[in-house]
Amino acid sequence: MDEDALEKTLKAGEVLKEVAKSLEEKVTVGGKLIEVAEFVENKILELGAKPAFPCNISVNSDAAHFTPAKNDERRFKKGDLVKIDIGAHIDGYIADMAISIDLGDHSELIEASKEAVFNAIDAVRAGVDTAKLGKIIEETIRSHGFRPIVNLTGHGLLPYIAHAPPSIYNYATQRGVELKEGMVIAIEPFATDGVGRVAERNECEIYSLINPKSVRIKLLRDIISEISEKYKTLPFAKRWLTRAPEIFIAKLVREKVLREYPVLSEVSGGFVSQWEHTVIVEREGARLVT
Ligand code: CO
Repeated sequence: MDEDALEKTLKAGEVLKEVAKSLEEKVTVGGKLIEVAEFVENKILELGAKPAFPCNISVNSDAAHFTPAKNDERRFKKGDLVKIDIGAHIDGYIADMAISIDLGDHSELIEASKEAVFNAIDAVRAGVDTAKLGKIIEETIRSHGFRPIVNLTGHGLLPYIAHAPPSIYNYATQRGVELKEGMVIAIEPFATDGVGRVAERNECEIYSLINPKSVRIKLLRDIISEISEKYKTLPFAKRWLTRAPEIFIAKLVREKVLREYPVLSEVSGGFVSQWEHTVIVEREGARLVT
């Protein structure tokens, strides 16, 4: 990793740490989800970075990929378990982190994923297999009496790619990938009192550009050029676009210009907690970015 990449990655991490400081006081019973999302995204810009993806706010059995639409009226309720997943980048160098906030009685479930991420980070260094991290994460979560979500993973981070190899599973896999010095990785355990799997549900506000091919209709071309200029290959929220009627977005998805990220929810309706940090793999350990 060169100096410039290192400096920008660390700065993106500093920005997220600063934003995260205010999250506990922003996420309150009766507060609107959209206000938290906009607070996070504006604060990232104010601090000199850009959002690497829309602020994800996943409540209760939702685990990932929910961000409110512009006119979303939903509010936090007493009893909620709220996951806030935030990303920032500087010139494409990304930091990614998530915390859980308890508006009910979920402290043990939250502790399970939080302890799991720090136990895994303690084991990170060049040469370690990601399967070992998965085993540590699973054992930690199970020691609290919960299950890891088996089909959500941590991941590598590359310039302008928010989900790069290697996948870091949250359970003990047969074999994994060897961590190399200089890799930037996000470790994100999810713990649940449900069965431990997520599936897509029918709501989608997050997309990314996968194939900026040329299209005939002018409005579609305008949408594509706005996305590629502002967000490149990073995920973006529908509410970030100047003008994007639903049917046009649907058309771009059908034509495989855009990829959609539907909300992922625990299949048995269990509560889900999440904790995530980004680290740089070093020869003798891990350097915490967030
Ligand atoms: Co992540």
